[in-house]
Amino acid sequence: MKFAIVGAGAIGDLHAETIAGLPQAEVAVVVDVQREQAQELAAPYQALALTDLSEALSLPDIDAVAICTPSGQHAGMVVAALKAGKHVVVEKPLDISLEAASRVAAAERDSDRRVTVISQHRFDASSQVVHDAVSSGWLGTVSSGIASISWWRSQAYYDSAGWRGTWALDGGGALMNQGIHTIDLLVWFLGEPVEVFAWTGLLAHERIEVEDTAVATIRFASGALGVIQGTTSAYPGLNARVQIHGDRGSAVIDNDELTYFHAARGGETIPDMGAGSPGNQAAALLAQARSADPGTAGLAPTSHTAQYQDFLSVVIKDHPPLVTVAEATRTLAVIRAIYESADGGSPVRVPGLELAKG
Ligand SMILES: NC(=O)c1ccc[n+]([C@@H]2O[C@H](COP(=O)([O-])OP(=O)(O)OC[C@H]3O[C@@H](n4cnc5c(N)ncnc54)[C@H](O)[C@@H]3O)[C@@H](O)[C@H]2O)c1
Repeated sequence: MKFAIVGAGAIGDLHAETIAGLPQAEVAVVVDVQREQAQELAAPYQALALTDLSEALSLPDIDAVAICTPSGQHAGMVVAALKAGKHVVVEKPLDISLEAASRVAAAERDSDRRVTVISQHRFDASSQVVHDAVSSGWLGTVSSGIASISWWRSQAYYDSAGWRGTWALDGGGALMNQGIHTIDLLVWFLGEPVEVFAWTGLLAHERIEVEDTAVATIRFASGALGVIQGTTSAYPGLNARVQIHGDRGSAVIDNDELTYFHAARGGETIPDMGAGSPGNQAAALLAQARSADPGTAGLAPTSHTAQYQDFLSVVIKDHPPLVTVAEATRTLAVIRAIYESADGGSPVRVPGLELAKG
């Protein structure tokens, strides 16, 4: 599959490395409005460097487009690529508004091409173990979950590109850009989100429009309750973390690694009160999950490799990707509802999945 990468910045580089590492794919074109950026990324792959997406879309031998431009440009580019008959990998977030997301859904529905939205941590062995445990009922009744992102982005990071920290192109801050991965996992594990209540703040940065800190509570259709905390103002060194708690087991993913998992086995008697920590099953489960995964065998995988492998299979075998437009829209809807709640000072309902039908 021949790819055109659009946006030769920080993440465009990783997409190129990932595509080039897959035997069935190649980097054929790199597009960036900054010609030198395009040329620099294209050179090691002997790819064509262009400055305009429409030129790349007019090339008949390009099968797919990987969109790695500022977030508020995503939907327009996905729609253009679909109309030109290309499959699409688009970076998170799908775009920054639900209106833009539904334009993508409509364009995908009207095409015979496929779109996946990058959420690479869904493919981590740790995330797969927890998702399987929740969906098989192994954790029992899941009562609560926590998504916590205690990250650091310096003022220099925000100053490094004009689009960062703007409503128009970043679409938000600590949650829309950074926390989205962890929120996506919480929503993937706990299912249909119903309502949020939130506060946001811009507390430790300047010259940006968006939040650098946010807290929210969230309620799911199952009745499960959750807490979301995200900041880019935590002194460097701490992690993103997801915790899921059920009445027969709990799981903790910290820094993308399953660090704690314990679930009762069938017939096991659970003590009346929890004291101390029961045996940690995380290492054994992870070893099992990794040995059963043929996906990355023999490759030097980047964090995006497994999602690209899913995408190649989607196109070749014609099945939906793990991260569909609808799934990405649901996570976007949670973040948009958090912003609306913080603005209005009251709880906000999260629109249902029908909004992702386009
Ligand atoms: N999945 C992840 O872990 C991850 C990590 C980082 C960034 N991202 C996402 O990737 C996207 C890009 O982020 P980044 O940090 O690489 O940004 P960046 O500023 O480093 O790179 C963006 C590039 O896009 C180019 N560009 C801008 N407008 C363009 C246009 N109209 N046509 C072609 N090129 C254009 C810019 O010149 C720049 O080189 C964002 O949506 C971000 O959320 C995802």
